[in-house]
Amino acid sequence: MPILLLTADSHLVCMRISLEETITRLKRGEVVAIPTETVYGLAADARNDAALREIYAVKERPANNPLIVHLADVSQVPLWASVFSPLAEKFAKAFWPGPFTLVLPARDEVSTIVRAGEATVALRVPNHALTLQLLQMSGLSLAAPSANKYTHLSPTTASHVEASLGHDVAVLDAGACQVGIESTIVSVHDDAWQVLRHGVISEAEITAVAGTPAMTTSPSHGETTSRPKAPGQHHLHYAPRTPTYVFNDLASLQSKLNGLLQTHLTGAVLAIGEATLPSAPLTVHLNLTPQAVAEALYAALHRLDQLKADAILVLLPPDLPEWAAIRDRLSRAGHGDQR
Ligand code: TXA
Ligand code: MG
Repeated sequence: MPILLLTADSHLVCMRISLEETITRLKRGEVVAIPTETVYGLAADARNDAALREIYAVKERPANNPLIVHLADVSQVPLWASVFSPLAEKFAKAFWPGPFTLVLPARDEVSTIVRAGEATVALRVPNHALTLQLLQMSGLSLAAPSANKYTHLSPTTASHVEASLGHDVAVLDAGACQVGIESTIVSVHDDAWQVLRHGVISEAEITAVAGTPAMTTSPSHGETTSRPKAPGQHHLHYAPRTPTYVFNDLASLQSKLNGLLQTHLTGAVLAIGEATLPSAPLTVHLNLTPQAVAEALYAALHRLDQLKADAILVLLPPDLPEWAAIRDRLSRAGHGDQR
């Protein structure tokens, strides 16, 4: 039975369910929000097209944005991928279970809904004890995008899921996610690889395992594409509802803040790094390592969003490789022209 938490006036505030109930619902073709070490995912049986359609409907996500399939272990890769090259195997061995997604050529029978018509499929073995138990006990492979409405902030707690998707979505609650930002996505074609999305597993770590640098030439078009995109990645993604502006330096942020204050508007500030901060009343300062900032990032943005200020002003961390994933998420959170 789901646990229903009720407020004093008996309004349903959330639906947290057990592991057994999660398995029952997923096998019935329903969607359930599940924890992973990165962010919460909105999960469904990856072989059930009706369930997959429900993911897109609940998220209001365009059908051209493919989903990641979560597997119990590496032995399941050949059920989904038509080619599992030695390089891809090397990556799987080095980074799974973990915040790392492999994009590989798909077997013909893989649902076109899960891969949004692409010839490839995205696969990940998550490093989360409860979710690994779920995958093993159910025998299912689970398609799971982040459990938020399309373009909104990703959730790192069950409450974030409910704030974005509403209280009708059942959640398997395992507390806050430890990694905090979405997995690194890497596509592999034979012995060539490319980062499609940055994450806490850095390009340097991947290069060390591969023994060769990422390719910079698109194999299909012969064009130079130094930073290829995962399909469907919107420039405005991971966005709070409050208009958000990002800045590379404190002086520009301060000038924007002064402008707001002069017109009697409020600005909430998120500063990453060592800056000495302006005297804004609504300020979150994350002077932490990249990994610790990743863990705290979405919770900080959710909190600033709830303040309902007129704007959120973000001071970016330095433009260095170790900050690439954080800078990517924050740059896509911006509504303003500083993006
Ligand atoms: O950490 C994560 O990856 C989380 C957790 C829940 O596992 N999931 C997640 O899913 O971030 P989502 O749907 O929010 O982002 C998945 C990204 C999308 O940008 C999509 O374009 C890309 O993966 N993707 C999925 N399949 C792909 C494919 N076949 N080729 C290229 N990119 C793909
Ligand atoms: Mg997402």
